[in-house]
Amino acid sequence: MNPQFPPPHSSSALPCSRRRLLALAGLGAGALALPPGLRSSPVWAQGGPDEVVEIELDAVVERLQLRPGPQSTVWRYQATLLQGPADALGWTQGPLPLPILRLRRGQELRVRFRNRLPEETTVHWHGLAVPEAMDGHPKDTVPAGGERLYSFPILAEAATYWFHPHPHMRTAFQVAQGLAGFLLVEDPAAEAGLPKGERDLPLLIQDRTLDAQNGNTYAPHMMGFLGDEVVVNGRPSSTPLPVAAALYRLRLLNSSITRTYKLAWEDGRPLRALATDAGLLPQPLDRPYLMLAPGERRDVLVDFGGLPPGAGLSLRSLPWNTGASGGMNRPTRLPEGSAFAVARFTVQAAGRLFLPAALRAGNWPRARLVDGGRWQGPTAQTGAGGRPAAERPGQEARPLHLVQEGVDRTFVLDHRMMQWTINGRSFEMEAVAPDEVLRLGAEETWEWVNASTTMMQVPHAMHLHLVRFKVVQRQVDPEQATAYATVRDGLLDEGWKDTVLVMPGERVRIRLRVEGYSGLFLYHCHMLDHEDMGMMRNFRVLEG
Ligand code: C2O
Ligand code: CU
Ligand code: CU
Repeated sequence: MNPQFPPPHSSSALPCSRRRLLALAGLGAGALALPPGLRSSPVWAQGGPDEVVEIELDAVVERLQLRPGPQSTVWRYQATLLQGPADALGWTQGPLPLPILRLRRGQELRVRFRNRLPEETTVHWHGLAVPEAMDGHPKDTVPAGGERLYSFPILAEAATYWFHPHPHMRTAFQVAQGLAGFLLVEDPAAEAGLPKGERDLPLLIQDRTLDAQNGNTYAPHMMGFLGDEVVVNGRPSSTPLPVAAALYRLRLLNSSITRTYKLAWEDGRPLRALATDAGLLPQPLDRPYLMLAPGERRDVLVDFGGLPPGAGLSLRSLPWNTGASGGMNRPTRLPEGSAFAVARFTVQAAGRLFLPAALRAGNWPRARLVDGGRWQGPTAQTGAGGRPAAERPGQEARPLHLVQEGVDRTFVLDHRMMQWTINGRSFEMEAVAPDEVLRLGAEETWEWVNASTTMMQVPHAMHLHLVRFKVVQRQVDPEQATAYATVRDGLLDEGWKDTVLVMPGERVRIRLRVEGYSGLFLYHCHMLDHEDMGMMRNFRVLEG
């Protein structure tokens, strides 16, 4: 625990064009259209042309060649850029192209969404603070054939976010069919010197089971679905990912329904973490391995520069003990906690690289990274020098008080009659219990309890909409100590989080400030079968 952690959002700087625009227009807060529920902040304006990113987003059913043999039916997001910088929309490479939105804090995102699926859906912007009506809550469905405009300002700090469906009891199914996209929030000042362009790779890790006809066989399971194979952007771990002999930023996202990974490099080098779910770390941190639970993100730096052309480096998942007890076994060829390859990177000879000239090796300040992982370049806390808090959009720069006593709210994760529960309750569409009401501006400590008294014990991955948090304390039941020792060094609790792994027998305390918007928002286990089977609730945020 580090009480000196830098304040949130300290590195932001609005693009000059916006400041100029506002100055020219002589606009004050009163003249501006504020999204409903957003606490007023003087900079919110309808932006100029470069401040709005507008895309058309379609959820479609397609036939794609996922692997040799028959084509597979996938559900996927198709996207077209209507307005905004040309690089605001990109795609992952590989058999399952996923949209990558590249945005900046202060921009406004407008998404003209069309549902061309055979059933209702919603789009949720995981990790972003957005107004209630834009959050993709299962009450706000878009029917088959329907349309919806999602529109909100980007308040988030630079990090890797993502979007995915969130319909009632169908989230796991729709994500398993392939629906997901990346949403990267960039900050040129805070990220100066980091690999960009072709050296900045969003990697979505997911497990799946395809049958002999290459049909997706996902089926809900009380304990959670576990696929037979692990794919990265739809690419099997046996298919190499060609890379340059250079420094890379890998944005690792676990979009699996249930599976947690224990990621490590095969040659024993540490994983060098650069960012967690909802923000850059003050400096890169080395870990022997990193746990990655469903919904979580870790950005890591890796230098393929030491490898000769033709050589490869595999990212693996190491064996670990889930600490699970009781319950039903999940049918899979790849049990949770087993060892397997996730991705194999192979270094290409320089002549065969597809790279813009500006991205040639040698431009990257490898010297910034010195022994011990201390970051000497611009950091997340360099703080853009004294922008008053009042000028920052939406969220404030007050430091979060991590030193605290006691717990404001406790949430017991359990299970009853084929339903997963939080404090004995399962999901009800609009219900909010008295202990689920929050006040804007409040700082609170919450405790997740994965109780050892429960009959069926498995890890859970607890996620909050709207707010991000810091993990301030973990405590594990001595009975679970042996299992816990297999994951402990990879938890990486140092950064901003929106999803946290809670192991069996563990109590995890988080510290958060309720900020952004008032309204109704979700919290839930991001193991999507658990979520669909009740392990989700609403909280209501009231004006302060
Ligand atoms: Cu990514 Cu409510 O979830
Ligand atoms: Cu979310
Ligand atoms: Cu769970």
